[in-house]
Amino acid sequence: MKIFAHRGASGHYPENTLQAFTAALNSGCDGIELDVFLHAGELVVIHDRQVDRTTNGKGYLEDFSPAALKQLDAGNGESIPTLWQVLQLCANRLEINIELKGHDTATPVVALLQQAQQQLGLRLDTILLSSFHHPLLQQLKALNPFLRLAVLISHYPADGVEIATRLGAVALNCDRGFVDAALVEAAHQAKLRLYVYTVNQRREMLALQAIGVDGVFCNYPKEALQWLDDQ
Ligand code: G3P
Ligand code: CA
Repeated sequence: MKIFAHRGASGHYPENTLQAFTAALNSGCDGIELDVFLHAGELVVIHDRQVDRTTNGKGYLEDFSPAALKQLDAGNGESIPTLWQVLQLCANRLEINIELKGHDTATPVVALLQQAQQQLGLRLDTILLSSFHHPLLQQLKALNPFLRLAVLISHYPADGVEIATRLGAVALNCDRGFVDAALVEAAHQAKLRLYVYTVNQRREMLALQAIGVDGVFCNYPKEALQWLDDQ
């Protein structure tokens, strides 16, 4: 079962910062997960449109100039990274799950990935693009049919497998609240991987592994790898 560091190793470091992604790299986990918004033409790595929860600032992303946004402290003196900075740090070193937030991120993400292919030698098979906003996934597929997509689902996915199949996705990324063996089986029948968020407890992680879940998003990647090793 794959371990994705959720917002980086966010259990120990400020979420979605280069520190958190560096710790994930050092843990030896399979991948990282991060969230992106478009801000003044640049993709920035942050979970909320409002900066209050994760930085020392107050207000919405759009209230800040690019220079003012860079000045914010996202924890431990780190600034909010750009997606480009994360790709520079992590490209080809582990899998990168980019979760698209906002409704305007598909085109800039595809353009940035193309730039990263050219300038960093990024391999697209290491990138997984996900969103709760499924029309964005459709846009991504239209822009580049070779992109690997994951459908994010936060409620019981009566039609999740169908949606993922229709979109040509490779994975269904589900909230931990409703995943069971039948859903894993249905996903596998449809040749989809089933990934689960956010799993921070050993017992739950091992139970999900036992029913065939392919990967979990965890805030504690180092510990998670240990739990899998120790069993
Ligand atoms: O991508 C899995 C998970 O990160 C989705 O929920 O709210 O943490 O972005 P959220
Ligand atoms: Ca996310």
